[in-house]
Amino acid sequence: MAKALVAYFSASGVTEKLAKNLAGAIGADIFEIVPEQIYTDADLNWQDPNSRSSVEMKDRSCRPAISSKVENMAQYDVIFVGFPVWWYREPSIIDTFAEGYDFSGKTIVPFATSGSSGIGESGMNIGNLAKDAHVFEGRRFAAGASAEELKAWAEEYL
Ligand SMILES: Cc1cc2nc3c(=O)[nH]c(=O)nc-3n(C[C@H](O)[C@H](O)[C@H](O)COP(=O)(O)O)c2cc1C
Repeated sequence: MAKALVAYFSASGVTEKLAKNLAGAIGADIFEIVPEQIYTDADLNWQDPNSRSSVEMKDRSCRPAISSKVENMAQYDVIFVGFPVWWYREPSIIDTFAEGYDFSGKTIVPFATSGSSGIGESGMNIGNLAKDAHVFEGRRFAAGASAEELKAWAEEYL
């Protein structure tokens, strides 16, 4: 059986709930991607073109720093990477994560929450950064997705 990690970033708790449900349902380890500089409400204001998130998402090379590392990434076969959809794709901090490890030979499966948008090109973007990993398109879930639904989806990759 593949050894799995659920790694997630969540600015306001919605993705965190899903990530915990998923990890519990499949017996995976869990890792929170915590920004070195936490996003404030003002940072998250997408209606302000000068807010931190707006500025970061306009710059494809932006790589917000993460406060800690996964210990011994080598032990995992499958990494589920969870995040909120920001501007129709993965937040820039997920790009930092994708570039931060040797994922060669591993499977990466993105999952996301959002107001309504799909997961977009997030999987392709992550695949361009996580060299030699097998990165799937992934899936966007509703905020209230059940542990059963998450498990049934995740088992295809384990
Ligand atoms: C900066 C920013 C950009 C967002 N962009 C989108 C978007 O493009 N499409 C969408 O449906 N929701 C968008 N949302 C809403 C979030 O994806 C949604 O609220 C998500 O469930 C939050 O997850 P979290 O609590 O784990 O951070 C955006 C939210 C923020 C803060």
